[in-house]
Amino acid sequence: MKISEATTVSDMVHFRSFADKQTLAEYLARDVAEQLKRALEERNAASLVVSGGSTPKPFFAALRSHTDIAWEKVSVTLADERWVDTDDEDSNEKLVRENLIAHGMRFTGLKNAAFLPQEGRMETNAVIAALPRPFDVVVLGMGDDGHTASFFPYAPELQTALYPEDKKALCAAITPPDYAPHLRMTLTLPALLDARRIIIHMTGAKKQEVYAKAAADGAIEAMPVRAILRQEQTPVDIYWAA
Ligand code: 6PG
Repeated sequence: MKISEATTVSDMVHFRSFADKQTLAEYLARDVAEQLKRALEERNAASLVVSGGSTPKPFFAALRSHTDIAWEKVSVTLADERWVDTDDEDSNEKLVRENLIAHGMRFTGLKNAAFLPQEGRMETNAVIAALPRPFDVVVLGMGDDGHTASFFPYAPELQTALYPEDKKALCAAITPPDYAPHLRMTLTLPALLDARRIIIHMTGAKKQEVYAKAAADGAIEAMPVRAILRQEQTPVDIYWAA
């Protein structure tokens, strides 16, 4: 079965609910830290993909408090980026540098000097291609419209970002709908699925409602997080707290 033909949540997806956001952040950090330690033991290198947005801050704080990891051997990058300067308040790179990066972690951002993400795509692709893959852990968020990474509903470049003709395309430029600020660069679906694990971190009653809708039948284009929920390649844990 092709990924895009599935209509239900795959058996690879598990929903985990936590007492509150802080408890979730601590469990998630412990879980990710364990996975990274295992990777370091087995391969002497580890890679982590994180997301921007408002949800991950407590997770970042909890993760960097794990000081018993050889962080200098861990490569960290982003699932997606807003095409703004890296010192802009809306930059995911800024968020990650200020809230996560510590203890010598190697951070690779998606933004470069190109004026448009379309023009910077090849350069970002080369930078991502140089990272250790499969990624050990990919931590995604989910928007209230059912987007994840920068797979926005009905974005003109959505098909290319989800199912690129060039299987080696690791990133894609995205024009989001008017309600979402800034042009974006996103890792493609095949790049995100090239991971040992995916975790979707979401909090609040609204996100639970959105998740329930996404888990039901309906078009991937309408709620692109479904592309992650319906695939059968990579295990997915949903971490949710009210
Ligand atoms: C971004 C993201 C995006 C995010 C969701 C959830 O740059 O906006 O990486 O995919 O994870 O929009 O955002 P919140 O955590 O703010 O709800």
